Amino acid sequence: MASTFIEAGYSDGDVDTNFTAKRTLNDIANERFSRRQTVLGGLGASATAFLGTSLLTACGSDEQVGFATETLVNAGQDATTSAGRMVTIAPTVANSASFTVEQFAGPTVTLSGTGATRSFFAPGVAAPTTLGFRITANGQADDVSITVNPAQLGFTAVPRNLNDVVTVPSGHNVTVLTRLGDPIQAGVPTFANNGTDTNYAGRIGDHGDALYYYGLSAAGMRDDNSSIRGLLVQNHENLNEQYLHPNGPTNLASGVRPAAEAIKEIEAHGVSVVEIQDTGNRNWVMVQNSALNRRITPNTPMVFNGPVRGTAFLRTVGSPSGTTGTGTINNCANGYAFWGTNLTCEENWAGYFRRDNTGADADTANRTARELTSLRRYGVTSTRGNFGWSTVSTTDPIFRRWDARAGAGAATDDYRNEPNTFGWVVEIDPFNPNNAPRKRTALGRMGHEGAWLAEPVVGQPIAVYMGDDARREYMYKFVSTATWVEADRNSADRLAVGDKYLDSGILYVARFNADGSGTWLPLVFGMVPTRPAVGTEPAYTFESQADILVNTRLAADAVGATPMDRPEWTAVNPANGEIYLTLTNNNTSGRPVTGTDAANPRSYVEPRGTGTTTGNPNGHIIRMRETGDRGSATTFRWDIYLFGADSVDASAANVNLSGLNAENDFSSPDGLWFARPQNPSGVGRPLLWIQTDDGAFTDRTNNQMLAALPGRVGDGGARTITNTNGGTGTQATFVGAAATGATVRRFLTGPTECEITGVDTTPDGRTLFVGIQHPGEGGATATPSSNWPASQAGAAPGVRPRSGVVAVTRADGGIVGL
Ligand code: FEO
Ligand code: CA
Ligand code: CA
Repeated sequence: MASTFIEAGYSDGDVDTNFTAKRTLNDIANERFSRRQTVLGGLGASATAFLGTSLLTACGSDEQVGFATETLVNAGQDATTSAGRMVTIAPTVANSASFTVEQFAGPTVTLSGTGATRSFFAPGVAAPTTLGFRITANGQADDVSITVNPAQLGFTAVPRNLNDVVTVPSGHNVTVLTRLGDPIQAGVPTFANNGTDTNYAGRIGDHGDALYYYGLSAAGMRDDNSSIRGLLVQNHENLNEQYLHPNGPTNLASGVRPAAEAIKEIEAHGVSVVEIQDTGNRNWVMVQNSALNRRITPNTPMVFNGPVRGTAFLRTVGSPSGTTGTGTINNCANGYAFWGTNLTCEENWAGYFRRDNTGADADTANRTARELTSLRRYGVTSTRGNFGWSTVSTTDPIFRRWDARAGAGAATDDYRNEPNTFGWVVEIDPFNPNNAPRKRTALGRMGHEGAWLAEPVVGQPIAVYMGDDARREYMYKFVSTATWVEADRNSADRLAVGDKYLDSGILYVARFNADGSGTWLPLVFGMVPTRPAVGTEPAYTFESQADILVNTRLAADAVGATPMDRPEWTAVNPANGEIYLTLTNNNTSGRPVTGTDAANPRSYVEPRGTGTTTGNPNGHIIRMRETGDRGSATTFRWDIYLFGADSVDASAANVNLSGLNAENDFSSPDGLWFARPQNPSGVGRPLLWIQTDDGAFTDRTNNQMLAALPGRVGDGGARTITNTNGGTGTQATFVGAAATGATVRRFLTGPTECEITGVDTTPDGRTLFVGIQHPGEGGATATPSSNWPASQAGAAPGVRPRSGVVAVTRADGGIVGL
């Protein structure tokens, strides 16, 4: 049995004794917690019985060990708590004698505190677990038992609301940490927020999306356990262009864009890496002048790796060898690689390019039939590009490259292949600002959402789970050729470890079968049949593995994968390896009543305000268990964990299938993340955070984030529903256990017209970081529809809104959520 032996509390009053062998930054933080005496807030009535008590009744649970006729030490009364709650042992010791505390039962905890008390966070457990402690003093000993139950949600649900602020439960604090335009390099001026600001390559970008915290040591090196200093890596997906310029964008829809406006817009995309520090008591600040701060933009040099590197698909006038590329764009969800890197995922990149598909300026005469099939399948068909950047210059490659029309010459004469250089998972080493990020082509090209790794197992391959976010797209898995070696976790050359695990392997796409089973279909050259002709589009026969990886969607069509209701983020339960995937929504053309299947079972009419929206506008979350619980499995079981629904107006029998109520109803799940297993919220019964990007439920509430404690695949049962949406039909499916206020609860709501996206905590779970994207996205330059984050401190009429990251903490210093 593991035990911790701690000496402390000598009668000379030396209360600052360093009683752990190695005093970590977490210990320091814990001590600060203890000094503030905030232990009761996270603990509840069940534990108050042993806080500072002097109980002399010799009941069965409070027997003295030893021989005394006079009680000289009393450990206190046994108590029950749940995972993640703060527990304080406050023994009564006669004569202030020296004493010791020894843990003799249960999973080892780290005790902290001074004087006569010791505190610890109850560990994460899957079943009730007893921890035993022995207090020895005055020649006597006394034991106390603490029974820890699996995690319970530890906050009051936030009501649905339409307020222009971030709302968190009572007993919590919210502070704005970073915002669009905040300077992240020395000498960059304070953000004026009136459209005159320049140099977004030295500022936080727009539309902050997925984020991840990377701990730093006091020396500024990688330290996965640091909860007081770290790097926040955040994607910047898109723009609210109406707020970036003094009077809004010039010539957005037609005509030539001004170069200065286009440069701003380009540089406001990408990824930011910024150092953040806890200045005390979890008061976080961003460090503007940190040498580790970095902006990665659509202009940052990139390297291609994997099977597509150096092939004809990637050759352009900017990279005749096809081995390098320029920049990353529309970075949406993310992944964390266990060797310390960030995976940023390129989602809706196709719309940024000009590539007339029809009309007088179309380049179809200079394209092969195969190229045209590929371009249409990925939606590279705009006559201008989202922001018209290529109108600025026909010579300067910063602008010219966004025109992907093919000329009469060779592919290396122009940028016809530039769209092939986007749609990838891109690996960044956040600790090395000088390394070029690497595009991992083995993971396929699509509208990438999350790329989440399963916990690695020594001797087994790495598995990466990925969604492709568009209506009727697919879910994917990459399984590495290399098998996991634990030493790779701490390699100094992190991108070389990425080369080892992410450049060679098998890409699979999911088929969800009607009987609750599923199959991973390999996308391997020689195993993928010809994609049949579709309408006027000819059949497509794959010519190489690089062809399959560039045209992943076509290959997935060919093998018969299941078209889903917009696959967004993936998450892997750290306690049991089950995989969760948000399916954010679909419309009626994507999911007609005649076109449902077991894994996408609903097609209905959703009342919204005075009108309706139809299809599957509220979305759902599907989950999967790999056969044998191995990431390399080729089959799985699945069920639908939760169905989004408006509990006020949805049919309980056919739409609100998870039984949502006012405490937890939601729509359009998007961000999805399990708590880190470095603290009790990610162990035993891990917390799942769910974020929404909704249009169907915004008549009742702004977008939101919920905390959940999921069960397992198969904890519900089979169900047959009746769909009504311009016709009727029945559909059989598999529904997980119904939600209750105890298992799914609204934790946060955002400001007006925002999307909640991006979530992580410090390793200790005591600071939660949440991304607030595009507040006021529907407003106009002179009349913003949101004033957040300025509005967080009070009414701020007229102030332009900004995307930002908030830090949420408990007032009592506890683990957020529990
Ligand atoms: Fe960028 Fe699919 O959300
Ligand atoms: Ca409704
Ligand atoms: Ca998203």
